[in-house]
Amino acid sequence: MSAKTPIRPMDDAAIRDAAGIIRNGGLVAFATETVYGLGGDATNAEAVARIYAAKGRPSFNPLISHVADIAAVEEIAVMDDRAQALADAFWPGPLTLVMNKSEACRVSELTTAGLSTVAVRIPARPRARAFLAACGVPVAAPSANASGGVSPTAAAHVAASLPGPDDGGPALILDDGPCDVGVESTVVDLSTTQATLLRPGGIGREDIERITGPLAIAGSDDHAPKSPGMLSRHYAPNARLRMNADAPGPDEVFLGFGHIHAPGGENLSPTGDLTEAAANLFRILHAFDDADVNAIAVAPIPEAGLGLAINDRLRRAVRP
Ligand code: TXA
Ligand code: MG
Repeated sequence: MSAKTPIRPMDDAAIRDAAGIIRNGGLVAFATETVYGLGGDATNAEAVARIYAAKGRPSFNPLISHVADIAAVEEIAVMDDRAQALADAFWPGPLTLVMNKSEACRVSELTTAGLSTVAVRIPARPRARAFLAACGVPVAAPSANASGGVSPTAAAHVAASLPGPDDGGPALILDDGPCDVGVESTVVDLSTTQATLLRPGGIGREDIERITGPLAIAGSDDHAPKSPGMLSRHYAPNARLRMNADAPGPDEVFLGFGHIHAPGGENLSPTGDLTEAAANLFRILHAFDDADVNAIAVAPIPEAGLGLAINDRLRRAVRP
């Protein structure tokens, strides 16, 4: 048995050590008022790739960027009047706002899964905010459980669900006792004209509607075709895409992996490293879009570990 992740009370010394781990690209699980989060530097795509790997998630969903205060929100997102009003009413607290990225936003493409919007939350617990302030970067954090598991509301749940530090799990768990809310934050999308409830959670819909007026309710099916005027919740490149290719066709740009690559193309990871490939995926697809590429051929990606999530995203981008 390899070592378990150490659990430390969330005091100043532990917070300082944890912030150092985050700034070095490592992972830390930490208490919030909703559930324990598995945190990594949201501006570091490799750290974010490690979050997905630790959870064993077979798909990339955009993650919430956690910050300590409004100034830090404004660095990464454009806050309109609705956002200001909701922030006044519910932050710090169990509310996540999806907003357009700011010009200066350094949150990685993998954190937002390639979207032009960013989800942001200021958690209620003072120690959680002290940790985020010490990190000095936005911290991407889904719930700190293995994919398919129950969201953890105590440090021991995290240790039981996630791998230890030698197996890709967090280096440290910051224990601030049981979570008092116990369900995830409410997610509201403000990137559209009509504010939309994307996920019910710690703050009631009626309480939010008192500020915003009636909310649109997102369909429960993520895969449903996007309705007119609504932004898609999944980024997909404009180009036609072909998977499991050995070489590019005449009109295709090649997206290589490992030793399967082509001149003039890009390579997700020349060394065949899936963490590096995940970290590069959305950045390279966007670069192809920016270059008006019409057709992409992608080398085979192993169907294991992070390869599952990479292939899932590529498959969604394949169009008949
Ligand atoms: O309470 C919580 O929110 C916990 C704690 C740790 O803060 N975090 C959490 O994160 O539940 P996560 O990554 O499991 O949930 C993120 C939710 C997902 O429903 C995701 O689809 C949505 O937020 N989301 C994130 N970014 C988005 C974006 N740019 N556009 C639309 N939805 C987004
Ligand atoms: Mg979860």
